[in-house]
Amino acid sequence: MAIGYDGARRLFKLDTTNTTYMIALSPEGYVGHVYYGRRIYGEGDTRLLRMEEEPYTPSVNEGEKASFMDFFPMEYPTGGVSDYRESCLEVRASSGGPGCELLYADHKIYKGKKKLAGLPASFGTEDETETLDLYCEDGVLGLKVILSYAVFEKENVIARSVRAENSGGETLRLEKVYSACIDMDNEDYEMLTLCGSWARERHIQTRSLAYGKQSVASAKGESSHQQHPFMALVSPGCTQEQGEAYAMHFVYSGNFLAQTELTQFDAVRMVMGISPEGFCWVLRPGEVFQAPEVILTYSDRGLGQMTRSYHDFYRNHLIRSPYRDRKRPILINNWEATYFAFDTEKLLEIARVAGSAGIEMFVMDDGWFGKRNEPKGSLGDWVVNEEKLKGGLSCLVEQINALGMDFGIWFEPEMISPDSDLYRAHPDWAIRLPGRTPVQSRNQYVLDLSRPDVREYVYESVAAILRSANITYVKWDMNRQLSDLGSAWLAADSQGELSHRFVLGLYELQEKLVTEFPDLLLENCSSGGGRFDPGMLYYSPQIWCSDDTDAIERLVIQEGTALVYPLSAIGAHVSACPNHMLKRSTPFETRGHVALAGTFGYELDVTKLDHEELAMIPVQVELYHKYNDLIRSGDYYRIASYRENHSHDCWAVAAKDGSEVLLTWVQVFARPNVHSRRVRLQGFDPKSRYRLEGTGQIYSGEMLLYGGFLMENLQGDYQSRLLHFVRV
Ligand code: DGJ
Repeated sequence: MAIGYDGARRLFKLDTTNTTYMIALSPEGYVGHVYYGRRIYGEGDTRLLRMEEEPYTPSVNEGEKASFMDFFPMEYPTGGVSDYRESCLEVRASSGGPGCELLYADHKIYKGKKKLAGLPASFGTEDETETLDLYCEDGVLGLKVILSYAVFEKENVIARSVRAENSGGETLRLEKVYSACIDMDNEDYEMLTLCGSWARERHIQTRSLAYGKQSVASAKGESSHQQHPFMALVSPGCTQEQGEAYAMHFVYSGNFLAQTELTQFDAVRMVMGISPEGFCWVLRPGEVFQAPEVILTYSDRGLGQMTRSYHDFYRNHLIRSPYRDRKRPILINNWEATYFAFDTEKLLEIARVAGSAGIEMFVMDDGWFGKRNEPKGSLGDWVVNEEKLKGGLSCLVEQINALGMDFGIWFEPEMISPDSDLYRAHPDWAIRLPGRTPVQSRNQYVLDLSRPDVREYVYESVAAILRSANITYVKWDMNRQLSDLGSAWLAADSQGELSHRFVLGLYELQEKLVTEFPDLLLENCSSGGGRFDPGMLYYSPQIWCSDDTDAIERLVIQEGTALVYPLSAIGAHVSACPNHMLKRSTPFETRGHVALAGTFGYELDVTKLDHEELAMIPVQVELYHKYNDLIRSGDYYRIASYRENHSHDCWAVAAKDGSEVLLTWVQVFARPNVHSRRVRLQGFDPKSRYRLEGTGQIYSGEMLLYGGFLMENLQGDYQSRLLHFVRV
């Protein structure tokens, strides 16, 4: 049993294979956080709540309740009742005053896990997960709050979510509803987050904690390029193999906040949820608000273990696509090959060369519809441009299919161009503030997905194209962030719901799409990796990682992305050199090796490659087919980081049964007059012996792990090697 309840101590104990999480109730019914960390096999106790110390609990010391409220480690702190740390729930009654106090009412423990209405969420069978629902109440407001904890033993994960029900007679305004909180004593923790920008997404950043609040957030209507809805508190000097990490990752694709507060008593409060900035949800009597879920994990074996827990969890319990366990077709995308300048003949020219080199799918990117020949106009007019695609879409698709290739297509369904027939007919479908000219970004506005009529139009536009030809892949793009948050459809007092309703609308659309087209391979994208988040992973098994396709830049971007996401989710392509963004030239082989640590595909004009590079495509295609099962399903080990050492990068993927390990080495900069580099490897079974393929050399797992492997100094910058070790 993963969840136990000790009635005498009023203590809940949630166990996974390596971790324990404990919750206990104060005599009054405050829900306290006792412990999260290494597995405790015996019984728990409530001493860590310090209820026997001053200021004692309110039933003992009613006259000094404020001190109790402001230090007690809460599972789900509320605002307005003298807990001055960051609250998770802010409620305003119709009388106008803010304030909410939650006390335990009841609980349920059951096998399996419920769905979260309208939201992406992890799932598991009754054998795989067990859930604790804690029912809390504020009797004054008539508000019920259910704190859910789904325990996934095998992956060392707890999925937390929150549901608020208005069971009273008054309308309530929810001004903040976070999804998770951990209160614990500080132990010199450092805060690790993933930060960046367009073309520099998800760089790993670590900083020490200072008194007060430190956070990452997005107010852009998407999870964003700049900050990622992930936060870990790590012990000082935490490495890949040693140290502690407490991590939270948000299954949500809109505005978020992840924050750690270091308090006056040297405790930390880590919270995560929908950003309260601009958020206000009107909860009428009888209505329910479901907050998205946070995926928690704890590792006492360094960041590497945290990473592998997330990878396993997302592969087993979040990605639903039938492609999850399948090799994805190797695709070629025409974006960097042609941008908007293409017609049927040009696309077929690329496809013919690509198909004969072993590439399996052709993806037509932006520019195939309306009058779109530059990033301006026509978004919303999802009508094939027959001047470019003579004979129409089905004619192109048939010819691509005749080459033995699948066909995929690009959409940006959430957008509307001012210069479009759609906007001329429905200006009120754009998100905008009354009386103001809405801000344009990339010459476009955002559609108001809170409106059912807009969603209907968007869905039918996409579905009609998919029904019209044999299309097996969709790249769903989003190239601007939200602003001017006003909806012509929502009531005046519900305008604060728009950002969240937009995300719910997006989820509804993608749910419909994967339901009507169950075999569709969906790849989400947002100007590169601006909406790479666990919410999107629920609908699409892969997400375009970054518009930066330079192999060296990708080392850092993919390192940060792979900190939490399985390699099978990371969209990665081989592109042309000099790289369009950086003008850097890297060997074709290195570009291939880096893209193999992702979904693998191409994004260049293959008709312009010289013979030597063209001849490398079939070699890379063969490598993909040989290693993709391992890369998709194996354990990922980060061995060296170019971000840290400014010299080289190295990672390994090991089969779960220890039978093989694929090592990727990238020497970013060559060095003169040096010996080989000793690299201590990871991922090997110490008791096994391995043959390094292509050499006949045998190594013991122990020697590779503890003694290390001697990596030769390669000739030149940006060189790489794939080393495949097979157990003998
Ligand atoms: C941004 C994407 O990240 C690119 O790959 C490409 O699809 C463009 N949008 C097209 O406008």
